[in-house]
Amino acid sequence: MHINDPRIVASLAELGVELRAGTKLSQWTSLGIGGTTDLLRITKHESIPDLLNLLDANHIPHKFLGGGSNLLVRDGELPWIVQQLVPPEPDVVLEGNFAHVDAAADLGRTVTFCAKRDLGGMEGLIGVPGTVGGALRMNAGAYGMQIGSYVREVKLYRAAARKIETLRGHQISFEYRHTSFAPDDMMLAVTLELPSKPYKQILEGIRICNEKRRSSQPLGQKSAGCIFKNPPGASAGRMIDELGLKGFSVSDARVSNRHANFFVNEGHASAKDMLALIADVRERVERAYGMTLENEVVVWNG
Ligand code: EPU
Repeated sequence: MHINDPRIVASLAELGVELRAGTKLSQWTSLGIGGTTDLLRITKHESIPDLLNLLDANHIPHKFLGGGSNLLVRDGELPWIVQQLVPPEPDVVLEGNFAHVDAAADLGRTVTFCAKRDLGGMEGLIGVPGTVGGALRMNAGAYGMQIGSYVREVKLYRAAARKIETLRGHQISFEYRHTSFAPDDMMLAVTLELPSKPYKQILEGIRICNEKRRSSQPLGQKSAGCIFKNPPGASAGRMIDELGLKGFSVSDARVSNRHANFFVNEGHASAKDMLALIADVRERVERAYGMTLENEVVVWNG
């Protein structure tokens, strides 16, 4: 979708929003898949209510992009524009055991920044790609920890109320790869309370998690992490592996040979290829195990 109306273009400039026309989302997603649309880059949180009023008044459909690391975007000319936050400088501010973090901050860099100042707890998240906002929305977790445990406050744009609000940690429920945020809520910033730990000890935890991840996940390849959620008491990766589906492919979309719940783009896979692979694997697991795998990856196919 393209914003051509000069009045809208002028209003965007007034709001301090950068318009990047004709952006290929394949460049913004870790899968390297996604069609073309206009990208709006937001620098000031305060401009968001006016920006969304402007888009809605002009009937411009929109979506919100985080780090693009858990996302499968459809091909071709996209029927909506995409907004993205630009991280401020600095994007993490510490106050005792509290870390005030912008949603656009890189998750891995945030974990390392806090670790160097003797604040731990998030060692398991070190190899998880993406932004802090994305991790928050999905309640990202690995190696026995999840980000939700450390959340004390969240600043967000609530689409339903059309305004920026602050929620206390206890007002939000964090479950396995699921939160109580509405789908159109936009994460803006978070305050985490992190336990004090000596840097050396945190570093050792990080090293162990990195090693486990390197030995079991296809880190150098284009992927969106795990494609399916683990059903209660079962492992999606193990079931797909047991069915002999490692290496199974639709064009360049392939079930990783290293971890069967990672689907990789080996070259020029399209969203159509990846969706066909997902549907096929889901059907085979359903037939063999009677379990319907739910997507862990977020799909923008509308
Ligand atoms: N397994 C296989 N074959 C495979 C993959 C896994 O047999 O191809 C077996 C493993 O041997 C193990 C079990 O399945 O016994 C579980 O595998 P693993 O320890 O790799 O964990 P997972 O349940 O597949 C989850 C998260 C990962 C996270 C790891 C580490 C989900 C869907 N996945 O994977 O998160 O990194 O634990 O904590 O919850 C993600 O969210 O994108 C993600 C990759």
